[in-house]
Amino acid sequence: MKGDFAMCGIVGYIGEENATPFLLDGLSRLEYRGYDSAGIAVYDGQKIVVEKTAGRLEALKQKLEHNPPAGHAGVGHTRWATHGRPSDRNSHPHSSCDGKFIVVHNGIIENYLELKEALLSEGYTFTSETDTEVVAQLMQKHYTGDLLGTVRKVLAIIEGSYSLVFMSAYQPDRLICTKKDNPLVIGLGERANYIASDIPAIIAKTRRTYILSDGETAIVTKDSVRIENSKGEPIDKKEFVVTWNAQAAEKGGYEHFMIKEIYDQPKAVRDTLSGRIGKDGHSVVFEELSWTAREMEKIRKIFIVACGTAYHAGMVGKHYIEQLTRVPVETDIASEFRYRAPIVGSDCLLIVVSQSGETSDTLAALKEAKRLGAQTLAITNVVDSSIAREAGKALYTYAGPEIAVASTKAYTTQIMVLLLLAVYMAQLSGSTQERRLKEIVAEIKCMPERIHKLLEDVDPIKVFAQQYAASEDVFFIGRLLDYAVALEGSLKLKEISYIHAEAYAAGELKHGTLALIVAGTPVIALATQEEVYEKTLSNIKEVKARDALVIGIAMENDANIEKYVDHAVYIPHTDKYLAPVLAVIPLQLLAYYAALSRGCNVDMPRNLAKSVTVE
Ligand code: M6R
Repeated sequence: MKGDFAMCGIVGYIGEENATPFLLDGLSRLEYRGYDSAGIAVYDGQKIVVEKTAGRLEALKQKLEHNPPAGHAGVGHTRWATHGRPSDRNSHPHSSCDGKFIVVHNGIIENYLELKEALLSEGYTFTSETDTEVVAQLMQKHYTGDLLGTVRKVLAIIEGSYSLVFMSAYQPDRLICTKKDNPLVIGLGERANYIASDIPAIIAKTRRTYILSDGETAIVTKDSVRIENSKGEPIDKKEFVVTWNAQAAEKGGYEHFMIKEIYDQPKAVRDTLSGRIGKDGHSVVFEELSWTAREMEKIRKIFIVACGTAYHAGMVGKHYIEQLTRVPVETDIASEFRYRAPIVGSDCLLIVVSQSGETSDTLAALKEAKRLGAQTLAITNVVDSSIAREAGKALYTYAGPEIAVASTKAYTTQIMVLLLLAVYMAQLSGSTQERRLKEIVAEIKCMPERIHKLLEDVDPIKVFAQQYAASEDVFFIGRLLDYAVALEGSLKLKEISYIHAEAYAAGELKHGTLALIVAGTPVIALATQEEVYEKTLSNIKEVKARDALVIGIAMENDANIEKYVDHAVYIPHTDKYLAPVLAVIPLQLLAYYAALSRGCNVDMPRNLAKSVTVE
């Protein structure tokens, strides 16, 4: 089991006051980064006292109510478990066997298993299932009296992504912190300095900060901060003075969680891919599954069952699995599944998709499929959620907590896991040529960068959103994978802007809905799928002939689309299978900016809840 990955919140304090109040307050401001367990470690003048517990921060506060640790240096952590389940012993901080070294970590140590085995053989004992504990043990193993030197030695051994804070009973006058691919900020105070994953934790104390860059290490004492580059050379870091208010800081400076989460997508996808591409660079590995070709052969039919956005991801997944494995896949809306007497047996695999892992219709469908003897697999974002526990196996998306009701980063990471799964199954069954699978994996690896590029220029979408904000009805059309994305685009627009929207398979319009298209009706047409591209253009012509106002979503090398539509929005060029991951983003943004223009409560739309735990 791995450690704490997609998000998690870290804090550190060193100064003249008691560390505990800041640590607890800082963690409470980082709970949006994770909230399934929390802990602190404080040097009390003689030893480091560690207190941690599963559950929300409130549980830790209650535990500490009568006897909080006190001291002038400490670290804290709020966790969003991904691999190791939320439990007291998996909570951070983690300690070395001798209790002299303490570590809090956000990220993943990819080579922790081999390191752990070596440490076990040398007599080190482990109390948790996390990767992070390996770092604490390595500190003990390599310590020779020089704390910073030991940190450097350990950093040279571990592989992966991290932000880390180290504390040691040998040198309690300092905290050492470093980062790679995860955020870390240092707050500069008066006879005190602060460390945190994110600005909200420190904003009540100071607005003067250093934002650490990858590879930099900081040695933080109560009245100094020394920053070194990866070669150990001191650097003259420029201070960043925070001008946001506390509320905006929680959202990373964004106005709403939804837009923050849209911009989280490159990282969410990167985290979801981490550890799932083999060392050869082109095969998919799922430690969690380890299926064999024989087991794969036994699966005659697959059901993908989910609700809302997760259902739309499932529709994309159906396409992937059928195309790459030729095993038939049915998608079902979870609230329908168990009432339609589904034909399910032991040769079936039921995949449920759920961000929260708590949606009651999805959970009920899962239980029904188990009762009927199917194998079950959950794709979810929440470790140890009811759905993860109920399913035979679970694959996690590493999107981190999604706070906005409208799902964005959960959807794109669900699609990534479904595509990885389809490739994994095809590898086992030999149903698709290896060359084609390699092509897909190569493109999968480029996705974080492609999403990042797409998000760099969204101004045209803002303009369209303002133009369309006054519309009463909007239509989304597309074929094949574009149709699945159209459904998701339409749901996004409805749920947060309250504009009525319909999604249609583009070829279906002329069977009735075309009657609704009149002059000025907004139509969003997706045209990313090469095999139906010409057909989609014909459908665009049908609506243009009725004077619809058409936005086309196409790949950047498409020199044709502008002749057919009123406005074109381009996504970076990619494989047709990956196009949904990119094409949905302009639609998320369109919904967001339309909702803003209409003055809607973007993060908490009317009548809706983030997690639907009633039938
Ligand atoms: O937590 P789940 O993924 O199971 O939730 C399913 C739906 O309720 C959810 O996707 C919903 O449709 C989204 N809020 C839409 O943005």
